[in-house]
Amino acid sequence: MEYVIETKDLTKFFGKRNIIYHLNLKVPKGVVYGFLGPNGAGKTTTIKMLTAALRPTYGEIRIFNLEMPQNRVEIMKNVGYMPETPIAYDDMTIFDFLTYMGRLSGLKKEEAREQAKKLMKYVGVGKLALNKIKELSSGQKQRVSFASALIGDPELLILDEPTANLDPLGRIEFIGKILSLAKEEKTIFVSSHIVSEVEKMCNYVGLINQGRLIAQGKISELTEIEENDYDVSTSDNKTAIEFLKEKPYVREVWEEENIIRVKVDPRFLDEFFLQFPKYLTSQGIRLKLFRPHTSPLERILMEKFSIGEESD
Ligand SMILES: Nc1ncnc2c1ncn2[C@@H]1O[C@H](COP(=O)(O)OP(=O)(O)O)[C@@H](O)[C@H]1O
Ligand SMILES: [Mg+2]
Repeated sequence: MEYVIETKDLTKFFGKRNIIYHLNLKVPKGVVYGFLGPNGAGKTTTIKMLTAALRPTYGEIRIFNLEMPQNRVEIMKNVGYMPETPIAYDDMTIFDFLTYMGRLSGLKKEEAREQAKKLMKYVGVGKLALNKIKELSSGQKQRVSFASALIGDPELLILDEPTANLDPLGRIEFIGKILSLAKEEKTIFVSSHIVSEVEKMCNYVGLINQGRLIAQGKISELTEIEENDYDVSTSDNKTAIEFLKEKPYVREVWEEENIIRVKVDPRFLDEFFLQFPKYLTSQGIRLKLFRPHTSPLERILMEKFSIGEESD
């Protein structure tokens, strides 16, 4: 597989504190990769290393198959980066700032202006074009910062908590934009501490906690890891549970909101599949639902670590 971002044993110490431990990120081309973890997990530190704003203590980073930071200039030509902290150029107007960023990225003056206009509209700050950065709310600054990341139509976007300061409507709008960028085959690496947001926006995820990557992969695959768990519903759950409780091939069985959850011993799946429906039929109990249990991302997170509440 071709990875747009790949790290090997990426590690960072601040003084004696080991903040990032042997991170092996693998971000395939064209995915929306949610870098999900609680506050203080190490997301920003990692992103700063990916964009060469910080040097790793050791480990390797390859972006577009080129080594970072050795090929920083070449790599960053094709990366739109939205840092966690909003823009520093306080005294510039939005229009001047975006034009300036366009010029820095190599656009001609006219092109830079055109892009600035187009992007201001796109992110919803068109009417504020002549306002100074310092006059903006944090949400407006975040919009401008997103516009700045999109200058030059980069192949890869690296966004550090891009929705942190947006209001609920702004978030929905933003997620919609990410989904449409994904359709254009862009690769998007986006950090967040909000599970529901990652579920809506991303198809890949890397879970980071205390500087360690604890799971990584396609969300649809990660949420299917418990393949020996089944959800069952019948016209008489009580009797069905009594039956299952007695069976050696059932490790655990309990009821959750009218759904019977069954953990089956994987060595005896056949017995479960054959005997259980047969028993139900013999008792005149109707099977209403019978499917593998898919844990949503949230559940996996709860199992791996307790992630903070949404801090809106
Ligand atoms: N420059 C720094 N010097 C020392 N410690 C730092 C520095 N930057 C971040 N940290 C620490 O590293 C940890 C991870 O921080 P950060 O990467 O910002 O987490 P996140 O973005 O996931 O919230 C935190 O404990 C933070 O206090
Ligand atoms: Mg951060």
